[in-house]
Amino acid sequence: MEIREGDALETLRSGLPEQIDILLLDGAKSLYADVLRLVEHRLRPGALIIADNADYCPEYLALMRKPDSGYLSLPFADDVELSMKCG
Ligand SMILES: C[S@@+](CC[C@H](N)C(=O)[O-])C[C@H]1O[C@@H](n2cnc3c(N)ncnc32)[C@H](O)[C@@H]1O
Repeated sequence: MEIREGDALETLRSGLPEQIDILLLDGAKSLYADVLRLVEHRLRPGALIIADNADYCPEYLALMRKPDSGYLSLPFADDVELSMKCG
């Protein structure tokens, strides 16, 4: 496991693994879409994205749920958005 300390918008800007299987979003809600944009080119098909308190981030929900987003996305449990990267 690797821990990157600091602002995710900086620490995730480079040196990502070739393939990412899972992304947990639980930092600043307003940054969910920005963090996703930084890593989504490395998300493998079938990768899961779990976003806690996603209702506080309407921009993120709109991005994930739009028909051509490239994700299957649905609300799950209590205020969690569960998404899967499509092929
Ligand atoms: C809801 S808490 C996370 C709690 C954590 N998942 C846990 O279970 O202990 C949100 C955290 O995101 C951090 N955070 C906010 N913006 C961030 C950013 N741009 N980069 C990295 N961390 C950030 C905050 O400092 C805070 O510690």
